[in-house]
Amino acid sequence: MQNHFQTLLEQAKEEIEAGDSPAQLEALRVKYLGKKGALSQGLSQMGKLPHEERKKIGAVANQVKAAVEALLERAMQRAEEAALKASLKGPKLDISLPGRLCRQGHRHPVSQTMDDIVDIFVGMGFEVADGPEVELGWYNFEALNFLENHPARDMQDSFYVSPEGFGENAPPMVLRTHTSPVQIRAMQASPPPLRAIMPGRVYRRDFDITHTPMFHQVEGLFVDTHVSMADLKGTLNAFVRAFFGESVKTRFRASYFPFTEPSAEVDIGCVICQGTGCRVCKMSGWLEILGAGMVHPNVFSASGYNPQEVTGFAFGMGIERTAMLRYGLGDLRALFENDVRFLAQF
Ligand code: PHE
Repeated sequence: MQNHFQTLLEQAKEEIEAGDSPAQLEALRVKYLGKKGALSQGLSQMGKLPHEERKKIGAVANQVKAAVEALLERAMQRAEEAALKASLKGPKLDISLPGRLCRQGHRHPVSQTMDDIVDIFVGMGFEVADGPEVELGWYNFEALNFLENHPARDMQDSFYVSPEGFGENAPPMVLRTHTSPVQIRAMQASPPPLRAIMPGRVYRRDFDITHTPMFHQVEGLFVDTHVSMADLKGTLNAFVRAFFGESVKTRFRASYFPFTEPSAEVDIGCVICQGTGCRVCKMSGWLEILGAGMVHPNVFSASGYNPQEVTGFAFGMGIERTAMLRYGLGDLRALFENDVRFLAQF
């Protein structure tokens, strides 16, 4: 019996020293020390031995068990170290490999165009102002001298909203149809002189290749004691040259807006055909880019300015339209579809 345990130890020692992977050593641990392992099996035979003999053999068995455990522990350490060394010898990380390209985004062409327009006017001394998109009817219409039955007040063109909780006495409200109500708010907020540029979203009930129900405008307002139509023309000419290029011509056509008198629409020489006539300019050689005029005295009165003391000019332009001309786009709606293949071109 004693010999049996001694042989077991010799055999275990030989196998453990030959084992060189942690998995192999784990298998040996099970083989010798496991519940059904060689050592347990040997011990289970001891019941048949006389008492004295049993004591002696038991001590031997315990020694053998401790020896095998120690051998396994040392061998396990050795095997783990060897595995680590081997993995460090493996293929190295090549930090000179080109990285995976991360495509950088950019601002939407409408935002870029809006920022560029605002920047040009800020360079001429204008301050940036804004107002609410859900606007009181008074600011959107009455204060801007719209007569009672002006077609722009018709349900056809405007989105009306009814403020909740005001009941019968609710003041009429609209999604603003243009940025011109910000003129009134800017004048109410500070006394003359005033130079302000006012970008923002506006809403109309329109939807086709040149109209979307929501679009952007930039409004401009210049008020002082002796502002004239010549200032308006000089300022807008400077803007057109800065935005479209030095050689682009302008043309002022008489027009009508309730809030300016006289009023004008400004055209630029067609940027597509250089004025020779094409589909975009409908063979006229000209493209309309904005509405403008001298601020109507009624608008000054409504805003708390004295029309006897000040004069001023105002203008407003559509940003999507300006972006279309700048980038030569055929369909305005593409600007709102958010197809990255389209947007990535700008
Ligand atoms: N608000 C006008 C529009 O939406 C544009 C405009 C602004 C015209 C200021 C004159 C002066 O068409």
